[in-house]
Amino acid sequence: MKFFLDTADVDEIRQWSATGLLDGVTTNPSLILKSGRDIKEVLAEICDIVDGDVSGEVAATDYDTMLAEGRKLAQIADNICIKLPITMDGVRACKTLVDEGFKTNMTLCFNANQALLVAKAGATYVSPFIGRLDDMGIDGMELIEEIRAIYDNYAFETEILAASIRTGNHVKMCAMAGADVGTMPPSTIEALVKHPLTDKGLAAFLADWEKTGQTI
Ligand code: G3P
Repeated sequence: MKFFLDTADVDEIRQWSATGLLDGVTTNPSLILKSGRDIKEVLAEICDIVDGDVSGEVAATDYDTMLAEGRKLAQIADNICIKLPITMDGVRACKTLVDEGFKTNMTLCFNANQALLVAKAGATYVSPFIGRLDDMGIDGMELIEEIRAIYDNYAFETEILAASIRTGNHVKMCAMAGADVGTMPPSTIEALVKHPLTDKGLAAFLADWEKTGQTI
C-alpha cells in the first residue's frame, strides 16, 4: 500500500520524504488554508520535495472553470494530480482532463456508486473518506471493501486512495481490504511504528546487553 501524507505543511513533508517511505501527498482547500500559503507556491514546493503524485484541488464547481483551474494546477509540476469533487460537473471535468493526459483524484467519495462512476470516467484515484463516514456511525471500511470488489470485477485501473484516515486501525483495515493508497496526517504515520511491548522489550535487551560488557 502506498503511503501519502495528507498535509500542506512542507516541513512535515520534508521530514517524511527523507525517510524514503513517502509515496505522495494530498492537499485540499482546508489544508491549504491551514498552511497559510499561496496554493501555487506551496504546491510547487511540495512537488519539488516529493517525486510521487501531489494532489491539488480545484475550487470551482462548474465544468468550464474546473477545467481551467485544473489545467493551471497541472502547469505547476509534472507530478501534480488534479483533485476534483465527485459532482456531475466534477466527473465530466475528470473525463475531459484524463482524455487530455492529466492525472485526477476524485474526492469526497462516500458511496460505491460514486466510485463506479469516476472509474468509468478514467480517474487515476478515487478518495473515499473513511473517518467522516465513521463520524456518522457508518462503517467507512465497508465502503473500501465495496469499491475494491467493484473495481476487481471489471479490472478498473482507478486506484483506491483511502482518505480521512484517523487511526492505525484504519491503516491496517485499508491494507487488509486492498486499498492501493492510504493518505493520512503525519501523526497517524508516526503512530504506526509505536507499541509499548516493543519499547519494553528493547529496554530489556539493552539492559541485558549492557551487562555483557561487550561492544559490536
Ligand atoms: O484530504 C482528504 C481527507 O483525508 C480529509 O480528511 O480528516 O478532514 O476527514 P479529514
